[in-house]
Amino acid sequence: MGVGVRATGFTYVSHVLAAAAAVMVLVWCIHFRGGLAFESTNKNLIFNIHPVFMLIGFIILGGEAIISYKALPWSKEVKKLIHLILHVIALVFGAVGIYAAFKFHNESGIYNLYSLHSWVGLGTICLYAIQWIFGLVTFFYPGATMTFRRDALPWHVIFGLFVYILAITTAELGFLEKLTFLQNSGLDKFGSEAFLVNFTALVVVFLGASVVLSAVLPAQVEDTTGYTEITDP
Ligand code: HEM
Ligand code: HEM
Repeated sequence: MGVGVRATGFTYVSHVLAAAAAVMVLVWCIHFRGGLAFESTNKNLIFNIHPVFMLIGFIILGGEAIISYKALPWSKEVKKLIHLILHVIALVFGAVGIYAAFKFHNESGIYNLYSLHSWVGLGTICLYAIQWIFGLVTFFYPGATMTFRRDALPWHVIFGLFVYILAITTAELGFLEKLTFLQNSGLDKFGSEAFLVNFTALVVVFLGASVVLSAVLPAQVEDTTGYTEITDP
């Protein structure tokens, strides 16, 4: 990118923010919202699976998958395998998380797919699955020709980052929507739970930014961008 900044620092920042976001969403859903359950007469516990799985799977593991090329010390082939596996785990977590949201709606007699959040969310997971299949077929098995791989890579990176940014945006809409529902049914607007949710959403914004920067910045910076004294001829 030619700005003289390496990706490495941002990969560390991403790990820290990812760990913070995971802890915060768990504290919210377990401590404040009563825990997680697939089967329960308290349907809110089924809903709680949704933010936890979407965040830890889609956003955190998906982010770790993207930065794996810059964050890990191993060979390109090993990193490719880790990239592929982490993305598929993210996809499975995402599918389970969305299933939980539908299950909660169906068992509570609430309509499905009425919000912008749900539309963008469904679009995001479909594009993520397409990106994964395209990546697998092109770069792994059976693998495309060298020329096609070279031409496809920039598009893989651009589309991958677009889908990831879309996932971050969806999560932001989700936090906003859920907190607004809770505040409309009496939750203290300036209480500790409201602050926790808003701060979690902020951490997710910064996590998204540092993952994207880790991907677009170079692993190594050439010395030519450094300071050199201008001397008289
Ligand atoms: C990238 C991550 C996310 C995706 C792809 C996603 C996707 C979805 C989808 C497809 C639905 C529709 C379910 C239905 O209509 O039955 C939904 C519902 C919901 N999600 Fe998410 N979600 C994500 C993250 C979150 C987060 C972090 C929260 C925060 C609490 C959240 C809150 C909600 C709420 C409150 C609903 C029910 C209301 C509605 O349908 O809009 N979501 N989500
Ligand atoms: C939804 C799934 C996927 C997303 C969102 C995604 C996203 C990305 C992104 C953002 C990069 C750029 C990383 C960087 O330059 O630091 C990248 C690189 C790459 N991805 Fe994926 N990817 C996905 C799935 C796959 C799959 C399944 C494969 C198959 C092996 C794959 C193979 C590659 C390769 C070979 C690179 C190039 C690394 C390099 O040489 O710089 N990706 N991917």
